[in-house]
Amino acid sequence: MREYQVALIRGDGIGPEIVDSAVTVLEAAAKKYGFSFRFTAYPAGGEAIDKTGEPLPQETVDGCLASDSVLLGAVGGPKWDTLPGHLRPERALLGLRSALGLYTNLRPAKLYPALSGACPLRPDIVAKGFDLLMVRELTGGIYFGDRGRREGKNGPEAWDTECYSVMEVERIARAAFDAARKRRRSVISIDKANVLETSRLWRETVHRVAAEYPDVQVEDMLVDNAAMQLVRNPSRFDVVVTSNMFGDILSDEASQITGSIGLLPSASLGGTKRGLYEPIHGSAPDIAGQNKANPLATILSAAMMLRYAFDEDEAAACIEAAVDRALQDGCRTADIAAPGAANVLSCTAMTEAVLARL
Ligand code: IPM
Ligand code: MN
Repeated sequence: MREYQVALIRGDGIGPEIVDSAVTVLEAAAKKYGFSFRFTAYPAGGEAIDKTGEPLPQETVDGCLASDSVLLGAVGGPKWDTLPGHLRPERALLGLRSALGLYTNLRPAKLYPALSGACPLRPDIVAKGFDLLMVRELTGGIYFGDRGRREGKNGPEAWDTECYSVMEVERIARAAFDAARKRRRSVISIDKANVLETSRLWRETVHRVAAEYPDVQVEDMLVDNAAMQLVRNPSRFDVVVTSNMFGDILSDEASQITGSIGLLPSASLGGTKRGLYEPIHGSAPDIAGQNKANPLATILSAAMMLRYAFDEDEAAACIEAAVDRALQDGCRTADIAAPGAANVLSCTAMTEAVLARL
């Protein structure tokens, strides 16, 4: 029987609840499709700071490297917010992305017709629907550039640097064009080439790679315009490719127009099949431990894991269809329920609803 080793990073806040939900769904899908998992839990983020004094212990990095894939809940919370930058829980995420070489971040955002009421956009825009895939560069740019503090001419100042090599842009561009070939064959590359030199290199490089994909349409868009187009006409986007920081910002915007950040999965991939799968939302400390969290983004992240890490496409599609049906049947956690709605599901009840539809 096919057996997959998966490292689990439950993390902080609602992390443990949503990862446990996804594991239940993965186990059920495995049983149905004839494979199995070996799960091993590793600490990271606040949990790891409390246990070991550091957000990303070496044991966790080694464990992830020794696994076929990593499923992560969320890290961070107010308890650790006042620690210095290099000890913050978020360092765990950045450190894992870098240690595992996960330079491609895939963040799909689509409007579920059953949830169109939760979409904050105008009805005529909602009626057109949207289904886009954000391809965010994840191990370069300003997130990983030199930074520091110094004495400037007006007193103390701080600086961060954005740097992209041709190699880094080429590989993320290829990831985007390859993804577009499995979708509607359109790529919009987002930059700030009217101001930034890194963006001009980005643009040139994307166009050179585009020449290898004559069957895929490519268009450039400035990031400020993209922020506007995402709420004006999201249906025009298929695959979006952009830098680490622009991708961070635009993917939150893309998630919000789906109606809830509680629904969006993500996959972080590199040059190997080993990836990291996590919901794009955070640890929601305000509702942690209350069985109120929406587990769907993590369940959908687990489905992405089946597809990208293990080529278990049928099992992945089955989970996605079960989520679709649960939503169509009116199953709602608090974050996606209509205001004042009766029958709001808990995290475990939503998980049961998905299991029942597998
Ligand atoms: C995300 C998060 C992270 C990021 C933070 C927590 C470091 O916002 O995954 O989008 O900025 O990449
Ligand atoms: Mn973010």
